[in-house]
Amino acid sequence: MKNKHIVLGVTGSIAAYKSADIIRRLMDRGFKVSVIMTDEAKRFITPLTLSSLCQEKVYSEMFEETIPWEENHIPLGEKADCLVIAPATANIIGKIAGGIADCLLSCTVISTDAPIIIAPAMNFRMYKNVAVQANINTLKSRGVKFVGPIKGKMACGSVGEGHLAEVDEIVKAVVAAVK
Ligand SMILES: Cc1cc2nc3c(=O)[nH]c(=O)nc-3n(C[C@H](O)[C@H](O)[C@H](O)COP(=O)(O)O)c2cc1C
Repeated sequence: MKNKHIVLGVTGSIAAYKSADIIRRLMDRGFKVSVIMTDEAKRFITPLTLSSLCQEKVYSEMFEETIPWEENHIPLGEKADCLVIAPATANIIGKIAGGIADCLLSCTVISTDAPIIIAPAMNFRMYKNVAVQANINTLKSRGVKFVGPIKGKMACGSVGEGHLAEVDEIVKAVVAAVK
């Protein structure tokens, strides 16, 4: 997978720590990985951890005057061979379904031509919510590929559907998307 560029979006889920493993596995496959974190993702895992793994700075800011053009949402979207969001919150899924572009990640999603893969992670009660399900169905109907969620133990201790898919499954979906 040399010369293929994956843009990984990381959002504010308790499963955000798993993005570290996703980066590692994508890089093991020879992908170049750029990471965009939402502000809330940074509450769960540090940009330093993810930048150390992907060997470049993590993208997050939109409005600083010092940000070079290459770090803007348009070039980030253009260079992506695949844009994968893992873990994806109910919030980012809703924003994408609604065409909202109010952060670097949602702006990049709206401006890319690359295939989009979403790996949701949330409490099972959030996942079964009618609005969340409607947003997922809307995105599926537009060709967005979903991986998971799967049934598993939630952070709160209950078991239900909402657990982030296995990292292997997410990586497999990326490989299939760029072939
Ligand atoms: C401890 C904690 C864990 C959370 N885990 C999740 C989660 O797994 N999935 C989710 O959709 N939202 C979760 N949230 C709520 C999101 O962090 C919140 O909706 C946030 O605004 C999402 O922002 P983002 O989509 O821009 O990253 C959690 C909140 C807290 C306080």
